[in-house]
Amino acid sequence: MKSKTRYVCRECGASHPKWAGQCGDCGAWNTLEEAVAEKPANPRFAGYAGAGEGAKVVALSQVSAAEAERTTTGLPELDRVLGGGLVQGSVVLIGGDPGIGKSTLLIQALASLSERMPALYVSGEESAEQIALRARRLGLPAERLELLTETCVERILALAARHRPRVMVMDSIQTFYSEQLSSAPGSVSQVRESAAQLVRHAKGSGTSLFLVGHVTKEGALAGPRVLEHMVDTVLYFEGEAGSQVRLVRAIKNRFGAVNELGVFAMTDKGLKQVSNPSAIFLSRHQAQVAGSAILVTREGTRPLLVEVQALVDQSPLGNPRRVALGLEQNRLAMLLAVLHRHGGVGMYDQDVFLNVVGGVRVTETAADLPVLLAVLSSFRDRPLPRGLAAFGEVGLAGEIRPVPSGEERVREAAKHGFTRILLPHANRPRRPVKGIEAIPVRRLAEALEVFGD
Ligand code: TYD
Ligand code: MG
Repeated sequence: MKSKTRYVCRECGASHPKWAGQCGDCGAWNTLEEAVAEKPANPRFAGYAGAGEGAKVVALSQVSAAEAERTTTGLPELDRVLGGGLVQGSVVLIGGDPGIGKSTLLIQALASLSERMPALYVSGEESAEQIALRARRLGLPAERLELLTETCVERILALAARHRPRVMVMDSIQTFYSEQLSSAPGSVSQVRESAAQLVRHAKGSGTSLFLVGHVTKEGALAGPRVLEHMVDTVLYFEGEAGSQVRLVRAIKNRFGAVNELGVFAMTDKGLKQVSNPSAIFLSRHQAQVAGSAILVTREGTRPLLVEVQALVDQSPLGNPRRVALGLEQNRLAMLLAVLHRHGGVGMYDQDVFLNVVGGVRVTETAADLPVLLAVLSSFRDRPLPRGLAAFGEVGLAGEIRPVPSGEERVREAAKHGFTRILLPHANRPRRPVKGIEAIPVRRLAEALEVFGD
């Protein structure tokens, strides 16, 4: 039997028996969503005295806090973003554009996991033949991998209760529906309800779960966004069209560091690990070119060398353009203002374009100093000195501020053959690092002296 549905306003929470374009309570438009009716509160509720029975308050020190059990997925780069392997009973959401490689990554991981535990791949998008064909073409060890093509969550969970997989992939959450709701698969209420049932199953049975979510045009609405608070770990696929590089980034992780990056390359044999990612983000020009700077960033727990490129050009517009790819636009505008006030270089009649090579997105402030160096280098049409890398945050007062893990960044730059590194004074290495000369700076004006004028 179907349970009753209600329509709940997203804005004010009012519940209506029928759908309408406008909420009768708060007057907001298009905010009613289908929801499963809640059970009425217990009519015999006898006050708080007896209400807590069954639950127990425990002292923190009494809770046994054994490290969560982790299993390798067979892909060290995926293990890295998960925080060191897949945690038993955890729910992982993997989001990304259609066609970026979510199904490929998960069939590879699940095939490897199926050698160690019962594994089930549930697909609402591809037929069993398509999946089997892909697994065979990729040469995966898939004898024990079980497949299910089904889109009704209740039926999937009934089968899962019988087959007892220890790890499941649900590809994709937008194709599944619950019989308790009448709205179409892919709608916000269906996505949310299906995910809620699956998460409950995972937590109740200790099954690990991967949920695939396409980022749709209305990403914020029907996409994986609405699920982020329900799951333990959120991973997003990043990558540029036309590039082989695929990055998997942890946006949220209850079992590891956020912003951790896993780097893969999409090949004709599936996703391959890139164990030395710095190598692919450096374009290694034959000669030094103007407008290019090497940045040592640290995404998650690993330092990474990345090239930032800037192009500064006389603007024909009254309102010159500031375009940043892979970095935050507002940050660029702020840095240009600091450069004007504290470095004495104005760019108010110049278009400024900025790009991070390789499609990687840099989210930390350590990029500030190299960004300004790249911009200034392009503006003056003068390359930066050979073998120079940089990192450091630039403050509004023109000061160069420290960032975490300075010494580790210096060592990473040295490892890749850089001979000089410009860095915040507070980040200078306590002992010299072999092969690289540290140039600590306190103020922006000092940093600009690397141009040698
Ligand atoms: P897929 O994993 O199906 O994407 P998603 O599940 O995120 O929608 O990846 C599809 C793309 O990957 C498709 O354009 C073809 C490409 N691909 C390869 O280049 N090599 C391969 O071995 C595989 C399996 C896919
Ligand atoms: Mg897919």
